[in-house]
Amino acid sequence: MNRIFKTEILILSELVSSYQYFSEAPSNIALVKYWGKKKRQIPLNPSISFTLKNSISKMNLELQKNNEFALKVMLDGVFNENFTSNLLPKILGLKDYFDWIDQYRFFIKTTNTFPHSAGIASSASSMCALAQCLLQADKELRNSEHDQNFLSRIARLLSGSAGRSVSGPIMHWGIESDEYASNLNDYHQIFATFRDTILVVDDQPKSISSTEGHRLMNSHPYRESRIKLAGDHSKLMLTALKEGDLDLFGHTLEQEALGLHALMMTSDPSYCLMKPLSLEIIQKLKEYRDKTKVQCFFTLDAGPNIHLLYPEQERAHVAAFLATINVKSIIEDRVSL
Ligand code: DP6
Repeated sequence: MNRIFKTEILILSELVSSYQYFSEAPSNIALVKYWGKKKRQIPLNPSISFTLKNSISKMNLELQKNNEFALKVMLDGVFNENFTSNLLPKILGLKDYFDWIDQYRFFIKTTNTFPHSAGIASSASSMCALAQCLLQADKELRNSEHDQNFLSRIARLLSGSAGRSVSGPIMHWGIESDEYASNLNDYHQIFATFRDTILVVDDQPKSISSTEGHRLMNSHPYRESRIKLAGDHSKLMLTALKEGDLDLFGHTLEQEALGLHALMMTSDPSYCLMKPLSLEIIQKLKEYRDKTKVQCFFTLDAGPNIHLLYPEQERAHVAAFLATINVKSIIEDRVSL
């Protein structure tokens, strides 16, 4: 009798054993873009990014021992079916790293400090935060110790760009390793002062996801030339970052941004994520720069919104430029140190 009673308590405590983890991670903006992948999130080409300071995802992960996997994701307090169904195979795919993963029920609550569809990669920040939670869980459940490279590898498997959000201020991926991103140590101090002002041209969800855009690179007619060009751009960007050569930085940055959108427009099926206002702002910035010599440069991720990257010392000039344009909203961020 006594034995049965004890067993029941054990079973009961098994049923209710739950673990809570909290983490937060920043987003990043790519200077050289990751575009296209080989299997298991191995990038087609190297990429380089600035980690952002204020654009952060916060994540609560609750794990309940269940002997069977289940997942529920709440975004800003609301159940998100899309997020849940996209994330489910990604988490289960981490079983080679965390053998306990399919014996738990995952309950994720996530929020961002920045608005949705504002041109800030929430997958980078949220998937990096989730990777951090998974490492905390692994430490508790298996007493493991992991380094930053391992964290980046797990984040990368959840979303490629998340692999670059594990640290800052400047990260590279696909140069030292395809498996994880690393800190760039050799950079000029001017870049530590860089600001990222995001001009929100359109805040509607994009018609084609980045994941689909990556897939279209598999059969892209310019695939091989893109791989070569991104390699060349990475070398030029590393030189610009090391020497503080802002002209080279800006030129390479803008070639990359427009090159990314050119790849989208020449995919099959083709698509265009820029809006007329995106092009208008780019044109105006070029004219303003010709006139004032302001050192302010643009980039875009896979969306219509414009990131203006510039050193702190150019702030007043950029504010004067901003006064001439009309966008939905403006988000101020900077490179995270
Ligand atoms: C244009 O990392 O969002 O922002 O690996 O499929 O999750 P998945 O894609 P994701 O792609 C980011 C593409 C980009 C460029 C970049 O951040 O390097």
